[in-house]
Amino acid sequence: MSNSYTVDERLQHIAFIMDGNGRWAERRGMPRRFGHRYGAEAFRKIVKYCGDIGIKYVTVYAFSTENWSRPENEVRSIMKLLDSYLDECEKSAKDYNIKLRFIGDLSKLEPSLAAKARRLEEITQENSLTLSIAINYGGKDEIVHAFNNLAKKGKTCISSEDIASELYTAGIPDPDLIVRTAGEMRLSNFLMWQSAYSEFYFTDTLWPDMTSKDIDKAVEEFYSRQRRYGKV
Ligand code: IPE
Ligand code: IPE
Ligand code: MG
Repeated sequence: MSNSYTVDERLQHIAFIMDGNGRWAERRGMPRRFGHRYGAEAFRKIVKYCGDIGIKYVTVYAFSTENWSRPENEVRSIMKLLDSYLDECEKSAKDYNIKLRFIGDLSKLEPSLAAKARRLEEITQENSLTLSIAINYGGKDEIVHAFNNLAKKGKTCISSEDIASELYTAGIPDPDLIVRTAGEMRLSNFLMWQSAYSEFYFTDTLWPDMTSKDIDKAVEEFYSRQRRYGKV
């Protein structure tokens, strides 16, 4: 994937709802886990391309709080793919220039996977492209978690800044653009708070088929929008 342009400060953060892995596999008569495997390949290329065009923050929805209701073997294969991606990041942390961040409730993950995730956050701290991976993430869960933290601190009069500071995404600017693949036009419990003023881009392309050209289209569409934030 090569690029011919860079984005500016208007587009710092792109978030992806990586959807359609299962359908991609089913259309090829393959088990769903193959869709996740090819989806993981697309993810690597897309993250790299976003970095190449100057995006500073990339967030991906990898596993939702609701995805535990899928068949056990599918959940297991998704967790395995995550685990191998983390191993790969650990090996090449210095070459990748990716600053990893994990958003979601990691306490429900296999302890070794959660520990690896936290270790990677430490190791990659100095890198510049922030990649947030949402695992066991739910927007509602995140807001409840934030309120419980505030309650523990004895906060009674809660401001919007207080809530933002307790979200898993604290310190990360809200997404400018949210891209969802595979034709579904819903948020599915992703970044509910942070998406208040995000632009949305929907494409029928299934996640494993996403290429730099699809990103270019989304970026072009983003720049054609007028963000008013309630003003005239
Ligand atoms: C997205 O693809 C990946 C995860 C939710 C983990 P899906 O697995 O939801 O693919 P479809 O929507 O069934 O095609
Ligand atoms: C959203 O996709 C979750 C991820 C992409 C990880 P789903 O496929 O789980 O969402 P629904 O079920 O279509 O709303
Ligand atoms: Mg889906």
